[in-house]
Amino acid sequence: MPYSVVIITVSDRSASGARKDLSGPAVAAALDRAMFDPRDHLLVADEKEDIARALEGAISNDIALAITTGGTGFAPRDVTPEATLMVIERRADGLAEMMRAASFGKTPYAALSRAVCGIAGRTLIINLPGSPKGARECLEAILPILPHALSLLRAESVMDAEHDAADRG
Ligand code: MTE
Repeated sequence: MPYSVVIITVSDRSASGARKDLSGPAVAAALDRAMFDPRDHLLVADEKEDIARALEGAISNDIALAITTGGTGFAPRDVTPEATLMVIERRADGLAEMMRAASFGKTPYAALSRAVCGIAGRTLIINLPGSPKGARECLEAILPILPHALSLLRAESVMDAEHDAADRG
């Protein structure tokens, strides 16, 4: 069964309708529908509480994957990582490191994304940069390992996890 996904575009201008959101659709387009089922797409302003509330909604609905796009940079209103840190219980730094490592060859500005990844309940949260190109490049860097990450996170029982471990050798 495909993993449920919520996409959260974080942008003052997109949330107010002043600018068309292009990153959310770019993220949705990069997801293989056999593997991922986009359930909702939210537009929220660059407000820590609003972003955290949107993430908490995904967590309480037991959504497998919550992807944010935008608000990871250095501008004063870029607070998506801080909102993410408010809700996660466990960090998944390897995913953020993998996205940045893959991005360095494309643009040195990759170092300006403060994106974090982490786990809350059974939900994996991924921050992506806000440009459609940046969002797509970062998502593509981790897409091949996401199904395995989610299968581990959502193992229904200890037995599932053990079978998984046995399969891996
Ligand atoms: N990563 C990749 N792969 N490709 C990009 O084009 N843009 C960078 C960076 N990460 C980019 C990228 C830029 S220019 C910025 S400012 C930061 O992400 C933060 O973007 P955000 O504030 O829109 O989240």
